[in-house]
Amino acid sequence: MTKPLDDLYRKVLRRESGLREVAPGVAVRTPPPPSAAVAEALATLTPPGTRTASRMVDEEFFSRVVRVPRFDIDRHVLVLSGTQLAEEYRQMRTHLQALAAEHGVRVFGLTSCHHAEGKTSTAINTARFLAKSQDSRVVLLDCDLRRPGVKGFLGHEPEAGMDTILAGETELASSMVYSEEDNLHVVFATRGISSAAEALESSRFEAVIATLRPRFDFVVIDTPPLLSTTDPAVIGKRTDGMALVVQAGATQRESVHHARSLLEQVGVQVLGIVLAKVRDYLPRSKYLYRYHYYHDYYNYYKYYREPEEPAGRG
Ligand SMILES: Nc1ncnc2c1ncn2[C@@H]1O[C@H](COP(=O)(O)OP(=O)(O)OP(=O)(O)O)[C@@H](O)[C@H]1O
Ligand SMILES: [Mg+2]
Repeated sequence: MTKPLDDLYRKVLRRESGLREVAPGVAVRTPPPPSAAVAEALATLTPPGTRTASRMVDEEFFSRVVRVPRFDIDRHVLVLSGTQLAEEYRQMRTHLQALAAEHGVRVFGLTSCHHAEGKTSTAINTARFLAKSQDSRVVLLDCDLRRPGVKGFLGHEPEAGMDTILAGETELASSMVYSEEDNLHVVFATRGISSAAEALESSRFEAVIATLRPRFDFVVIDTPPLLSTTDPAVIGKRTDGMALVVQAGATQRESVHHARSLLEQVGVQVLGIVLAKVRDYLPRSKYLYRYHYYHDYYNYYKYYREPEEPAGRG
């Protein structure tokens, strides 16, 4: 059950951002066809309707990947099957699979306006749900090189990762971890670095994406906040699109506008919005203790009040 204020927030967000909502909590815009250059590159990799058949079989590459039995997934990203949130991730997966089949969107990032809006949790869950599809090969990249977060959520202390790859210290395949139980490949980041933008602009990062693209069905990229670093825009240029994580009732609509135009100005396609931390998903006691959150929410409600949509409409 969604609450009326969540619905109102969604409605206004949808109207303001111009992005279509295709599932509760997941608003996605069908992107225009890829540019001629991208379409040409994709055509060589993706024969129509044969998503998995186009994937490069590269046993030598995968034999060098570090195998772990399973990831120790943090409870915040462990979505139990049967919950409403799990159903929403399933719907998101269906939509992403359609975007991949129809528009060749296979490499995508998640970003948000500010810190702690739910990017990393959403990236991990999205990757996990995509990887649950039979025979899907999915890799999650931690490209928040300033404050790596994926390792904390997956309970893994990596020896190598995106930062060591981009520094030229390790090579890609052996810096990647695969959990057979989760059917998920992950390139962690081991430590925060200050020269993140330069590292991501380097030809090494371009080479990482070029290596992964033909070998995986989906490359899911976690990034830092868009309004405080240029990294997501730099990363975005190497992807087929970026999804914006918006914290329900907290992210300002001006920020969403600004974030969207920042990405579009540099030619990055905005795939849509993922509405995170919708009130119903918070444990009730936690929610009640988060006064500031409620307060913000109330202000949003006033801010977004529309005369034709009276309060309390569900
Ligand atoms: N749907 C949710 N419901 C409740 N709490 C959530 C939800 N998603 C994320 N959180 C919590 O919010 C906090 C921030 O989440 P997360 O690390 O995913 O955000 P982030 O945008 O990646 O942050 P950062 O900008 O620091 O990288 C974490 O404590 C996480 O457990
Ligand atoms: Mg994060």
